[in-house]
Amino acid sequence: MEQTLSIIKPDAVAKGVIGKILDRFESNGLKIAATKKMQLSRVDAETFYAIHSERPFFKDLVDFMISGPVVVTVLEGENAVATNRDLMGATNPKEAEAGTIRADFAENIDANAVHGSDSAENAAIEIKFFFAGREIS
Ligand code: CMP
Repeated sequence: MEQTLSIIKPDAVAKGVIGKILDRFESNGLKIAATKKMQLSRVDAETFYAIHSERPFFKDLVDFMISGPVVVTVLEGENAVATNRDLMGATNPKEAEAGTIRADFAENIDANAVHGSDSAENAAIEIKFFFAGREIS
């Protein structure tokens, strides 16, 4: 069993598709081990995305991620990292395969509906950033 972190971003929360996105996970063999809705602070978003701090899109990314509440979720299952990335589709929704979350719910590369960990190592770091051990079951 593997775990990964999902964030339903402010655009998808504002659209009212939290339930539809969580259903994609549960319908495709991923268990919700923990989930919560929260408003990120600027420091939260800057710290979470620190790996991108030198990228030209960093400020827009942080501004977007604090523009409204998000839903952070720990997903668990076999190959959870890869399964979640398949379900999300390409980072740029214009390149995302039909039937993926980003193809169905995202507008553009900034407002791209969901984030998912890109490796099991990063998943462990990202999960620890948002959840205490006792919140995950
Ligand atoms: P996410 O998976 O949350 O990781 C970083 C985010 O930066 C990414 O999704 C996009 O929403 C955003 N972003 C904006 N521009 C780019 C870009 N050129 N390349 C990658 N990510 C980008």
